[in-house]
Amino acid sequence: MDRLSIPMPDDWHVHVRDGAMMQAVVPYTARQFARAIIMPNLVPPVTTVAAAIAYRDRILAAVPPGVSFQPLMTCYLTDGIDPDEVARGFEAGVWVAAKLYPAHATTNSAHGVSAIQAIQPVLERMATIGMPLLVHGEVTDRHVDIFDREAVFIQRVLRPLTEALPTLRIVLEHITTAEAVAFVEQSGPTIAATITAHHLIINRNALFEGGIRPHLYCLPVAKRETHRLELRRAAVSGNPKFFLGTDSAPHPTHAKEAACGCAGIFSAPAAMEAYAQVFDEEAKLPRLEGFASRFGPAFYRLPVNDRTLTLERGPTDIAERIEAGGAFIVPFGAGTGFAWRVLNG
Ligand code: DOR
Ligand code: ZN
Repeated sequence: MDRLSIPMPDDWHVHVRDGAMMQAVVPYTARQFARAIIMPNLVPPVTTVAAAIAYRDRILAAVPPGVSFQPLMTCYLTDGIDPDEVARGFEAGVWVAAKLYPAHATTNSAHGVSAIQAIQPVLERMATIGMPLLVHGEVTDRHVDIFDREAVFIQRVLRPLTEALPTLRIVLEHITTAEAVAFVEQSGPTIAATITAHHLIINRNALFEGGIRPHLYCLPVAKRETHRLELRRAAVSGNPKFFLGTDSAPHPTHAKEAACGCAGIFSAPAAMEAYAQVFDEEAKLPRLEGFASRFGPAFYRLPVNDRTLTLERGPTDIAERIEAGGAFIVPFGAGTGFAWRVLNG
């Protein structure tokens, strides 16, 4: 199989930032995805319906002329958030979901949730109205090893949450462990997960290959090889509970190549190319359509896109760095490339 046409995929988890950075990165996502779930971890975070509408308008203004792209907005949950505001935004069609960042778990999460009990009323409301909860699934307890934080989160927070609120629809975002795969597989239809391209391609050795590799540092951090293999098995399994979410998270090089570098891998420039390479390596290319184009819409109760995207076997060129408002960003795959390319992107 050297060519593949699938309904236009969607990215169910992306960071596009704001300002000049947003202007530079939105075209990469809009080139290959019809819709994308936009993460709300701006400074300040997107916690009101008015802020989400204004942010959506700024993103739409950054979409190149003639390109059709729909940003799907999310609400950043804080301890004090008003359940009425969250429900109002969902019912008005502004927010498609709300995001739970445990406080201090990752980039711009200082306003995140200190303890799940603090948002119990809003979670109950979301369960009632059918609004999905998107979860950054890592504990922030400094005594828990960084490679165990996802598995511990599942035991300490997620399992009890699903037992307490069984109707709440949850996406465990950017899963990185065999424990997360097993949890999602064993849960009912209300629980799904996104998988990034980079977690399917790198394991934790890649972060230290020949020296420290800041552009491969993200959160949750890549795990050991056994976990990567489980993620690949889940992604290509055809199980609709696993779908595409790039977690493309651009940071300027000066913030990555630093004494205390930011977490985030910028994969938007060649995301579908990377996923296609993985499905091809697994000899499961026909299953890319479900993972990239059908299972996400089914979970979010949205139609499958009617446009198509065509991919072709053959090398992709990926820029060494991309200019964004006077700074540079290094994309995932820079210097190596991928074995597939997007034809009509
Ligand atoms: O690596 C990451 N980068 N993980 C996250 O959870 C947030 C993201 C970002 O916003 O930079
Ligand atoms: Zn993210």
